[in-house]
Amino acid sequence: MTAMSWGHLAERVLADAGPARYLLGVAGPPGAGKSTFATGLRDALNLRLGQPMAEVAPMDGFHLRNAELRAAGTLARKGEPDTFDAAGFVENLRRLRDTPLGAPVPWPSFDRAIDEPSPGGVVFADHRIVVVEGNYLLFEDEDGQEWSAVRKLLDACWYLDADRRLLEKRLLRRHVRGGRTVGAARVKVHESDFRNADRIAATRDRADLVLRGHQGRYYLN
Ligand SMILES: Nc1ncnc2c1ncn2[C@@H]1O[C@H](COP(=O)(O)OP(=O)(O)O)[C@@H](O)[C@H]1O
Ligand SMILES: [Mg+2]
Repeated sequence: MTAMSWGHLAERVLADAGPARYLLGVAGPPGAGKSTFATGLRDALNLRLGQPMAEVAPMDGFHLRNAELRAAGTLARKGEPDTFDAAGFVENLRRLRDTPLGAPVPWPSFDRAIDEPSPGGVVFADHRIVVVEGNYLLFEDEDGQEWSAVRKLLDACWYLDADRRLLEKRLLRRHVRGGRTVGAARVKVHESDFRNADRIAATRDRADLVLRGHQGRYYLN
């Protein structure tokens, strides 16, 4: 396995990016470290560029609201593909692509403290590089959700992988921190998160680059 420094990773993006806004996807299972990686890559890019020209666009901001999930009976399996507003996500990716640099494009974030999406996330304007991170960037269409449109709107898509035991440890911690009992967290991980992780793993071969994170470092798979 080859270790990739932040400098290497940033160079790889910059070698591929042109003058137009560039969208890099980072897909992978829940707990793989996508959000952490996307932030690190953004910082490395901004350091290289000497200006804040890169920013993260999380797919998490397109979680459906809890009230909506409760009404649909899907709250317990929050995190699965049909608990996201895939169409809204695609529409906003398209807006990022189609809007000229300098004009504002607001992007929602996900507030883990209240477990709800928050419209007041980041506003893209002069950002030439967008690191789009989320679970289902490499999915096919299903149940009326047009996930396949996502990959078409990305210039490239990487995949961040992690061992199942590591995912389990991180996800258990996340759910307990979020207020679940250890038992309920275990059920959530094994009956929901891991089912998603299996389906996401089946999309890994579509990625342009597969990375594995370990103790704060990233390796080419
Ligand atoms: N490369 C890494 N080395 C060690 N811990 C990491 C690494 N990447 C992420 N983590 C930890 O794993 C947990 C999940 O990371 P996160 O970025 O939230 O994953 P994701 O967005 O894929 O669900 C967090 O607690 C984070 O601090
Ligand atoms: Mg995340």
